[in-house]
Amino acid sequence: MKPIQMVDLKSQYEKIQTEIDQAVLNVIRSTAFINGPEVKGFQEDLEKYLDAKHVIPCANGTDALQIAMMALGLKPGDEVITASFTYIATAEVIALLQLKPVLVEVNPRTFNIDPAAIRAAITPKTKAIVPVHLFGQCADMESILAIAKEHNLFVVEDTAQAIGATYTFTDGTTKRAGTMGHIGATSFFPSKNLGCYGDGGALFTNDDELAKAMRMIANHGQTVRYYHDSIGVNSRLDSMQAAILRIKLRQLDAYNAARNALAAAYDEAFKDLKQLTTPYGDPKSTHVFHQYTLVSEGIDRFAMQEFLATKNVPSMVYYPVPVHLQKAYTDPRYQPGAFPVTEFLCERVISLPMHTEMEADQFELIVSSVKEFLK
Ligand SMILES: Cc1ncc(COP(=O)(O)O)c(C=O)c1O
Repeated sequence: MKPIQMVDLKSQYEKIQTEIDQAVLNVIRSTAFINGPEVKGFQEDLEKYLDAKHVIPCANGTDALQIAMMALGLKPGDEVITASFTYIATAEVIALLQLKPVLVEVNPRTFNIDPAAIRAAITPKTKAIVPVHLFGQCADMESILAIAKEHNLFVVEDTAQAIGATYTFTDGTTKRAGTMGHIGATSFFPSKNLGCYGDGGALFTNDDELAKAMRMIANHGQTVRYYHDSIGVNSRLDSMQAAILRIKLRQLDAYNAARNALAAAYDEAFKDLKQLTTPYGDPKSTHVFHQYTLVSEGIDRFAMQEFLATKNVPSMVYYPVPVHLQKAYTDPRYQPGAFPVTEFLCERVISLPMHTEMEADQFELIVSSVKEFLK
């Protein structure tokens, strides 16, 4: 049996190796390493895939979030609402720009930001909401967009974990994750559903002015070389990563389908286990299972992790500590107990291997090992 990994990038690469190797070699031979035709090509491919007017490639997902925040023209002290149950990058860029992260609770079933909690957190200083489509399923965008409209707030979707997911509104309109708010920000970190072979990221928007601002910020605040109209950053997707992403983008729907098939098999295998709750599927959103995350009940999940490790089955806890209880984000507003659902989830969640290349014998070992531990 092949060793089980949380994400098997090697087996995935082997299936597209000829194409990838050729594309990388072409970039090397062209020497168009930065802003070459592959970057423009990938941008256009992704615009088409997402049905987004503008895609702005950048260096990573954290930069994408930062550039989005910078483009909104917010002032220090302006408040930005996001979930406490997320990867740190979401809150980090808000704090870094001297904006005030206002953390709120999540829904216990979807793990995504709770619209009622957003509403309750709005003050005259609130300027933006950053929903995170955690683990691959869209947040309740219909409610979030309605709240944003009512209070004249920007919406920046953190879609690092949900590229390819779709969301259907009550009127029947369907949109891709990252294209519903003012800006979508994503990551192409290698383990992401659409991952490159290094770091990468992108911004999406349908707003021409925001697109212009974000393109300028990502390029040192210049549109004409050596003339700087705003303070910017240097954040580029390199041509080799773009060439790789063009190939992988063509597989994205198949990759997400493979993840769904694995999730369905896990769901079936674990459906009668009282100690584990399988992921909830929101009928409004498709799920692209960036992670397959269970909520444990009445067991020591770290002991479970140790037991699984003895069987060579890896597992992860995303995330053991919510943002509001992180040392760097200590704030008198947020004591332990501030967000009971978030804290409950951080104490209970456990994620199993989830990728596009799972083999039957590996799956059987994962399932039998989990069941053996629970017996
Ligand atoms: C929800 C979320 N936001 C932002 C990021 C940041 O992306 P990157 O690692 O490319 O900077 C990640 C991924 O790491 C993420 O999972």
